[in-house]
Order: sequence, then C-alpha cells, then structure tokens
Amino acid sequence: MIPGVLFCCFLLLLVFLQWHRPKDKRLPPGSMGWPYIGETLKLYAENPNSFFFNRQKRFGDIFKTHILGCPCVMISSPEAARIVLVTRANLFKPTYPTSKEKMIGPEAMFFHQGAYHSRLKKLVQSSFLPSAIRGSVSEIEQIVLRFLPSWKNTTINTLQEMKRYAFDVAMISAFGEKQDLETEGIKHLYHRLEKGYNSMPLDLPGTPFHKAMKARKLLNETLRKLIQKRRQSRREGGGLLGVLLGDKDNEKLNQLSDSQIADNIIGVIFAAHDTTASVLTWILKYLHDNEDLLEAVTREQEGIRSKIVEANRGLRWDDTRRMPLTSRVIQETLRTASILSFTFREAVEDVEFEGYFIPKGWKVLPLFRSIHHCADFFPQPERFDPSRFEVPPKPNTYMPFGNGVHSCPGSELAKLEMLILLHHLTPTYRWQTVGVEDGIQYGPFPVPKWGLPLRVGRRNKTATP
Ligand code: HEM
Repeated sequence: MIPGVLFCCFLLLLVFLQWHRPKDKRLPPGSMGWPYIGETLKLYAENPNSFFFNRQKRFGDIFKTHILGCPCVMISSPEAARIVLVTRANLFKPTYPTSKEKMIGPEAMFFHQGAYHSRLKKLVQSSFLPSAIRGSVSEIEQIVLRFLPSWKNTTINTLQEMKRYAFDVAMISAFGEKQDLETEGIKHLYHRLEKGYNSMPLDLPGTPFHKAMKARKLLNETLRKLIQKRRQSRREGGGLLGVLLGDKDNEKLNQLSDSQIADNIIGVIFAAHDTTASVLTWILKYLHDNEDLLEAVTREQEGIRSKIVEANRGLRWDDTRRMPLTSRVIQETLRTASILSFTFREAVEDVEFEGYFIPKGWKVLPLFRSIHHCADFFPQPERFDPSRFEVPPKPNTYMPFGNGVHSCPGSELAKLEMLILLHHLTPTYRWQTVGVEDGIQYGPFPVPKWGLPLRVGRRNKTATP
C-alpha cells in the first residue's frame, strides 16, 4: 500500500513539474547522458577539447550536458559568454568544488560576489596595475639571472622550472622584496599544500588531501604570525600583504581580518603560479617548433640588450614596452594553448537566456578555448601565427584572462614575467626537445607531455642567420 502511495505521489510530482515549467521555456539542446553520471565518462574518454568541439558541432553554440554530477550549459559564442561574464554577471555566480575552497581558503575573492568581492578586487588590482609593478622589473630580472645559468648543458623539466620561476615572482608580489623570517616556512608549507590541489577530496589520514589540509592549517598559523608582526610593528611592508594590511573600509574603518588576508594571499599565489608556468612552457615549445620565429624574437631582444649593455644598466619597464614581436608571441600562445579552456558559473535563479531556459543551480561554462579556436574569428586557428595580432581581435573573442567582474587582475604581471624571461633566454640559449613524444597532459591545465623535457645549451651565435 505505502509503496503504491509513494509511487502515485512521485507521478503527481512529475506532472506538477511538467505543468510548472511553461511550454515556451525550453532547455538548450544537447544530451544529459546517463542518470547521475551524465556524460562524465565520455568527457574523460575523449579529451575535453574534442568533447566540447563535437557537441558544439552537433548542437550549436549553446548546449546542455551533465558532467561531474551537475547539469551544465556550455557557451561558445562571444556574445553569450559576454552576457554570462559581463552584462548579466549578477545572475551567474562563480562556483568551485568545496575541496578547492577549503584548500585555498573560503574568504579568497574568487568565491565571492558583491561588496566583499569588489573591495578585494580593487585592492588586488591596485597591487598589479602597470604603475604598481613597473618597479619590480629589476627584482624579477634578478630571479631570472639567478636561475637561467643552472639550465646550461642540462636537461630540464620545463614546467617544473617555470613553476619555480613563477612561484618566486608570486612570493615577491605577495610579500614584497624584503623577505621576512616567516617567508621560508611559507614557501615550504605552500609546496606541501599544492601537492593536494588535484587530489581526490578524501580527508582520511595518509591521503594527499589530508596532508594538504594539514599543511593549510600550518600555513594559516605562519601567515597569521607574519600578519600580527606587521600589524604590531605598524609597518605594513611591501607586496599585496602590505596593501591588504593598509586597507580600511571607508565608511566603517574596519580592517580586513587575519583570515581574510591569509586566504587572499594564498589565493593570489595559487592563481599566479601554475597558470604563468604553463603558458611559459608552451612558449618554449612553440618557439622550438618555429625556428624562424625564434630567430626573429632573438633579434628583437638583442637590439634591446645591446642598448642596455651600452648604457651599462639593468632592464627597465620602458624596455619591456618595446618588444612588439615578443608580445605577439605571448598573445598567440595564450590563444593557442588556452590553458584555462573554460570557467565555471552557476545560475543564481531561473534565467531566460538567448531564447532558452537555464534553471537555478545549473552550471554555466563559457568555453574560452572554443572561441579562441573558432575559424570565424581566428582563421586557420590551429596555426601558430603571432602576426594575426598585428590587428586587434574582434571584441569579446579573445579572453585568455577572462572578462567582466572576475577577470584576471594579474594579467600585466604574467606578461611582464614572460617578457623578462624571454629577454634573457633567447639571445643566449637554445633548446631541443628530449624524446619524441608530442602530446598534451592535463594537470589540471593542458601542458606539453611530461612537462616538456628540454636539453638546453648556449646559443651558437655564428650559426644563426
Ligand atoms: C598567464 C597567466 C594567467 C592566466 C592565463 C590567468 C587567467 C585568469 C582567468 C581566465 C581568470 C578569470 C577566471 C573566471 O572568470 O572565473 C583569472 C582570475 C584571476 N587571476 Fe589570473 N591568470 C594568470 C595569471 C595570474 C597572476 C600572475 C595573478 C596574480 C597576480 C592572477 C590572479 C588572479 C586572481 C586573483 C583571479 C580572480 C579574480 C576574481 O575573482 O575577481 N592571475 N585569471
């Protein structure tokens, strides 16, 4: 009797839901796959790029699917992506797995919208504006000059080396040039934390996630000590930490709390580190595969170098503004590699969207990579051709740093790091891939297989044209 009643209730509920959704509210086309697992297995069986590409071809620029336990709407037209990220951004909140929130810290800006987000965004942006980072050129140059010679006549794992570099730059951006006693401890604990970033969120003794969470707790304690020290000495110090400590909300004069500061410092190191390292790894790969381009970039950098040597000075911000070809190589690498293939948002209410209905709670994913690889906007999209950036791309078709309220505040710093490295690398060194296997691995960003092992030697200047 009871199962029969329950079954009837279930049927009534289905009928109610069917009535409740007006007929003109149609979901985007696409397949939701199997119950609960949806199309997740297909996503892993194909690679993510072909998974999205095949469905876009079949269903169009806006389609639905079901992956990782969530109903999703994929967006691959520039106009629709702009609606989600810019014009109606208030209807689509950023969303991350809870395990990521726990590791980075729930008060980091990525996880928020509204007044708290915009307060932090302004502070972080002010730390990474060109006017704020132009003074860091010589410090970043020193980092490059310290580690480049160690590459000579060895085989390097490019991704690992680039991570080392991007991490050192992130540390000075976060804490300033003057290293505190706590900085070494923070570096060590951060490395323990990042080992858990891509692990299963299984908080049991011995699992990578558990170890990462332990490191996160200790990291919090060390950061709090540093924050207290700087607060007590009444010297905020440099870097983003200095900016966050110095901020007082205009109306209430309330300071950011220790945990708000700590979570945002970890958040920025996290956002700055693997992203920049992955793009730098791709740059070395593309320059290796395009010899003429490498020679042209080298000539550009040699021109600047010789003036600097003549004047007996170090590299300056203004020099980095005179590297048009090298800058286009960076732009094209950001497009071709599209290391952030997409981003996640979640509908905060039922949304009418381009003639479709997106129910509250559904994930919405603007697919940056699909837009960057669309032949309508970038002819012969698979070709690595920096000259395409001699004219600016069409509006909203090029978003390696995102768009709208959550766009990347670190884009200028990332590009600066790349320019400084290439300035010293190309005139002096040459590199050959080790092993023959071409391909891509995801961890989580797409990078050349095995992190691109390279044999690095001194450049033979007489042998080049
Ligand atoms: C080549 C390197 C980088 C790439 C490709 C990149 C890309 C992006 C993208 C696409 C977003 C937007 C994500 C979204 O809308 O959901 C983003 C956000 C962010 N990035 Fe970057 N980024 C890079 C380097 C950096 C650096 C060096 C920093 C720090 C100085 C940084 C700090 C951040 C922060 C804090 C956010 C969150 C902004 C917010 O939620 O308002 N990124 N980044």
